[in-house]
Amino acid sequence: MLQIGDGLACFTVVFVLVLLGTRSAIWSSLFTASLYVFLVMFRYPQVPSFRARQVLRPSTVSGGGIAVVAHRAGGDDAPENTLAAIREARRNGASGVELDLEFTADGVPVLMHDETVDRTTNGSGPVSKLRFYELRRLDASAKHRLREKFPGEKVPTLQEAVEECIRHQLTIYFDVKGHPDEAVAALRVMYRKHPVLYNTSVVCSFEPKVIYKMRQADPDVVTALTHRPWSLSRLGDGTPRFESPWKHHWMQALDVLLDWAHHHLLWNLCGVSAFLLQKSFISPDYVQYWAQRGVEVVGWTVNTAVEKQFYQDVLKISYMTDCLREDCNPHY
Ligand SMILES: *[C@@H]1O[C@H](CO)[C@@H](O)[C@H](O)[C@H]1NC(C)=O
Ligand SMILES: *[C@@H]1O[C@H](CO)[C@@H](O)[C@H](O)[C@H]1NC(C)=O
Repeated sequence: MLQIGDGLACFTVVFVLVLLGTRSAIWSSLFTASLYVFLVMFRYPQVPSFRARQVLRPSTVSGGGIAVVAHRAGGDDAPENTLAAIREARRNGASGVELDLEFTADGVPVLMHDETVDRTTNGSGPVSKLRFYELRRLDASAKHRLREKFPGEKVPTLQEAVEECIRHQLTIYFDVKGHPDEAVAALRVMYRKHPVLYNTSVVCSFEPKVIYKMRQADPDVVTALTHRPWSLSRLGDGTPRFESPWKHHWMQALDVLLDWAHHHLLWNLCGVSAFLLQKSFISPDYVQYWAQRGVEVVGWTVNTAVEKQFYQDVLKISYMTDCLREDCNPHY
């Protein structure tokens, strides 16, 4: 049985040959043909479009199916990734929430964005070094500007968060950063326990490997790739990630390759239904480009009233926001 790794290796060899072989017609035909064969052999088809639509543009939302998704469950309106934030997002009219999955030292799936608990709680150290009972003692509102309004919030388990969202009929965007195998296993448990998730949730990741493994484990799950062009060479605010010019240029070259792969290969290989893109790179033409491929674009993170209006009136696509009610400009 061929594995995806073998396929990727073949693909890389062919790709390098093409680069070496410059632009000869034979090489480019060979490249195109092998790419095609590779895709046909290893790809997971998209879920049927009516199912993707049900999740990504739920009929329950007003405003022409433009879903407003509370990023980290709405990190400016309430302490991020908590049950209080989920309830607050619902109260403020969100149609969905984006939640970040992490694991404790004893393997309990919990909601946490960072690798450490320092920024959001009164504890310190990596989540992966804390046992669940230790994590559970921490105050998840400790660092939030509205901590007085949300006293006694704990770091929730994945299960508690899922049940809270189902209770409030919120769409869930599960954001998975690492631990592909554990994450896929934990999410599978949730989908089996709550089949309504097939209609109301999407698994997203920056890592194509996570999405590929999720589709492999359960091809009925709606998925999305998250992308920020130039993310390997530059930080979110645009400053270079590396001081060494050589490293910077090398990473920029990889960025070009990665961007190409996202637009021509990875979405198809993983069979994603949506593409979650950093907002600076979204235009009406870009939305159209993906619409022709049966893929929805979702923008992040859209925080000012002017931007939100642009999404509602011009782009007419769903977006993620840190604040449901007012403008905000959180610094994380
Ligand atoms: C964090 O806050 C909680 C709740 O107030 C408290 O019980 C706990 O001891 C605090 N932990 C640390 C490490 O300060
Ligand atoms: C999911 O949606 C389909 C059709 O849209 C419906 O038939 C099915 O009952 C729903 N499943 C759950 C668990 O709600």
